[in-house]
Amino acid sequence: MKNIAVLTSGGDAPGMNAAIRAVVRKGNKEGFNVYGISHGFLGLTKGDLKKLEVRDVGDIIHRGGTILYSARCEEFKEVHVQQKAVATLREYNIDTVIVIGGDGSFRGAQALERHGIKTIGIPATIDNDIPFTEYTIGFDTSLNTILEALDRIRDTATSHERTFIVEVMGRESGQLALYSGLASGAEVSLVPEAIEEMSTVIHKIDESIRLGKKHSIVIVAEGAISAAECSKIISDALHIEVRTSVLGHIQRGGKPTARDRIYASRFGSTAVDLILEEKHDVALIVNEGKIKMKDFDEVITGKKNLDTSILKMIDELSI
Ligand code: F6P
Repeated sequence: MKNIAVLTSGGDAPGMNAAIRAVVRKGNKEGFNVYGISHGFLGLTKGDLKKLEVRDVGDIIHRGGTILYSARCEEFKEVHVQQKAVATLREYNIDTVIVIGGDGSFRGAQALERHGIKTIGIPATIDNDIPFTEYTIGFDTSLNTILEALDRIRDTATSHERTFIVEVMGRESGQLALYSGLASGAEVSLVPEAIEEMSTVIHKIDESIRLGKKHSIVIVAEGAISAAECSKIISDALHIEVRTSVLGHIQRGGKPTARDRIYASRFGSTAVDLILEEKHDVALIVNEGKIKMKDFDEVITGKKNLDTSILKMIDELSI
């Protein structure tokens, strides 16, 4: 019987559990022993793994987080640490690992490939910043969490006629800021990929006030500018009441949406199909709604483009 393993790594994302469930159930159906590695690559170096049976992944499809726990493992860049992980895999006779995570996790997978371990990547990060894939597990849930928060903020912003600066996650990616801006009817979204002059933002808010708007919402991706800094610049320039809200890690938790569960299940099941087809060193991607695969090399060295035309749309629609 063939032995395979699955792990989750990097920032957790709602829907990871649905992907684990799919890997375990489809893997079992195809006659594989499926091992769950706890705490990502870090757990692998410590031999933190156990065999998962189909019942072990019952009642998790609707749960946020990851039953396998996750970790960021900087040490995994070092060869002697990678060798420890490989030794664990050899001990359990595991020749393929399915890695659920973001681009950092895919780099870890590639390191295993260099030691002769086969790997397949499933894109999961709320940032939706992985090149070539339209979608990553967790993005939809996170976006909806942000929207719910923004709708609530809008209520109080209206009541007090205030400007709000809302900081969302995304150190290098403005996807959450961009699409939450469009979906919430914000005045401006500030993203790291296209840094806006603050004078433009000030002009926009000033113009909104002149046009009779009672409140404004500015969304900032954490990698573009902090809410505190943005707030100070705007209140100093316009002498208006500004409040800030940093949404933080609530954006990473919660029940996965239908979209996240569906993609996670499709990714997990397809990953096992790829093992049967003897494919490896690839990440799964979504392209025009279809699940496809792409070499890790291309995914890791590629760059995800942000559709900056949406920034213009946010501006035009918030008059
Ligand atoms: O997982 C992605 C992400 O949520 C980013 O949006 C954010 O910048 C980062 O992780 C926060 O990481 P941590 O939880 O390790 O502070």
